[in-house]
Amino acid sequence: MPKLLHLIVACAENRVIGRGGKLPWRIPEDFKFFQDETAGKICVLGRVCFETWPRAAQDSRRPIVITQKRSLASAGVRVTGSLTEALTIAEELPGEIHICGGQRIYEETLALARPMRLHLTLVHADVPGDTYFPEWRHLPWRERSRRESADENYRYTFLALDRELPPAGAR
Ligand SMILES: NC(=O)c1ccc[n+]([C@@H]2O[C@H](COP(=O)([O-])OP(=O)(O)OC[C@H]3O[C@@H](n4cnc5c(N)ncnc54)[C@H](OP(=O)(O)O)[C@@H]3O)[C@@H](O)[C@H]2O)c1
Repeated sequence: MPKLLHLIVACAENRVIGRGGKLPWRIPEDFKFFQDETAGKICVLGRVCFETWPRAAQDSRRPIVITQKRSLASAGVRVTGSLTEALTIAEELPGEIHICGGQRIYEETLALARPMRLHLTLVHADVPGDTYFPEWRHLPWRERSRRESADENYRYTFLALDRELPPAGAR
């Protein structure tokens, strides 16, 4: 039985997640949630996410970076060329697997028929950007938890959603 995949993302109503290689907002409560939730975990992420997240290899995180740039490998940082390879490595390691983006990695993960949990911070705004989370709302999810919050700029909802998979024979 493969491990449960945890996807973690903050996404605007128009599915924007990034702009110019950065987050399109500054939401301290969500950033803390992301740091806390991923600490100590196996973090599968793309090269841009890795290069723009200074703490990716700190707080006992074990990053697996997907890139052709093998030179990014260093102590505690694994590098691989595809999501499939990253997940093979992650299965062999102890601990939870968190999928931290970006766009293509989320797309490929959501297309997998395997157990997954989406930790979604839904930012209740349409935000300009150039990087998107794939459409998820049409997929069958079971809501595990929901918490509303806000700061001076945004209203947002912390959601944990479990993907409901059809029985193996029906896939
Ligand atoms: N709001 C959020 O929760 C959230 C989460 C994550 C990211 N973001 C935002 O999203 C943006 C970064 O995401 P991004 O999609 O632009 O970049 P990314 O996925 O972090 O990095 C892109 C690079 O990673 C490699 N890569 C990614 N997917 C791959 C795949 N499936 N197979 C092989 N290689 C792959 C390639 O590296 P090489 O070119 O080196 O081969 C590609 O050029 C930033 O703006 C960031 O702030 C936001």
